[in-house]
Amino acid sequence: MITGFATIVSAVEAMQKGAYDYLPKPFNPDQLRALTKRALEHRNLKIETKRLREEKDQMERNFITFVSHEMRAPLVVIRQYIEALNTIAGDRFEQDVKEIIERCAKRVHNLEEMVAHWLDISRIENGTLTQQKVSLNLDSIISRSVEEMAPLCRKKGIALETNSPRSLPPITGDTESLVRVFTNIIGNATKYTPEGGKITVTVKNDEYYITVSIADNGTGIPPEKLPLIFEPFYRCAEKNEKHSGSGLGLTFCKKIMESHNGVIDVSSREGEGSIFVLTFPVSINTERNGSGEI
Ligand SMILES: Nc1ncnc2c1ncn2[C@@H]1O[C@H](COP(=O)(O)OP(=O)(O)O)[C@@H](O)[C@H]1O
Ligand SMILES: [Mg+2]
Repeated sequence: MITGFATIVSAVEAMQKGAYDYLPKPFNPDQLRALTKRALEHRNLKIETKRLREEKDQMERNFITFVSHEMRAPLVVIRQYIEALNTIAGDRFEQDVKEIIERCAKRVHNLEEMVAHWLDISRIENGTLTQQKVSLNLDSIISRSVEEMAPLCRKKGIALETNSPRSLPPITGDTESLVRVFTNIIGNATKYTPEGGKITVTVKNDEYYITVSIADNGTGIPPEKLPLIFEPFYRCAEKNEKHSGSGLGLTFCKKIMESHNGVIDVSSREGEGSIFVLTFPVSINTERNGSGEI
């Protein structure tokens, strides 16, 4: 900036606000040329730094994708070996050996789940997660997810109920990703709700949005921890001693919701339960032409 009334004080003030150079008056053309050259070099340096930072971020993302991808295959094989061991020789083992094998199977399963989530999250971040977005009915996705989770709820003695309007407008989305979002949220509700509890899935809609709320009457989440639960690897520690998990499930759900232009929100009261609310925009194009094609 060039000003006719600059003083040392105003120059210092300008530098404090982000200016990186100044030229006191009177100045000659050589001084102005030198200052302009410095300004251009400074600008180029900034552009180069930004490019290098972006390159470094991309390398980090690729590294996570690579590591999780490479870890996944051996984990699947280890799990399959453990399952085979149980099938082939299970009845020949003493009880204590059986317990050790069961614990191994559980740990490997958790690790496999964590790596799968990690891989998906990094793929969403670097834009390589394959999602086939089509016009779909959320009702069938919810029914499928509820069906998948019903045996676990029955096993834990938890009631699982769905309330849905007769017909829903279509949304645009990827079936597999959305089923995983719902099974994750219902899975959490099952995990953090004691025996005899209840999970209610309620679907509502208007012309523009569909909201799906998944309410449980479980342990609830302390208010100061609510903003953190969507962060990668975050788990409310004191509630988790007996529950295994990676702390990546909700991060995955949030990213998938974002990729569907949707929103995931939560409200909770400690000791009373939690409600996760998922909001999806109704697909406008398909509504207009009614063809069901995107
Ligand atoms: N329905 C729920 N009731 C109580 N706490 C929950 C519920 N859903 C999530 N949480 C809390 O949020 C944390 C993060 O959830 P998530 O990302 O799915 O990780 P986790 O692998 O631990 O299930 C959980 O560890 C748990 O403390
Ligand atoms: Mg979870």
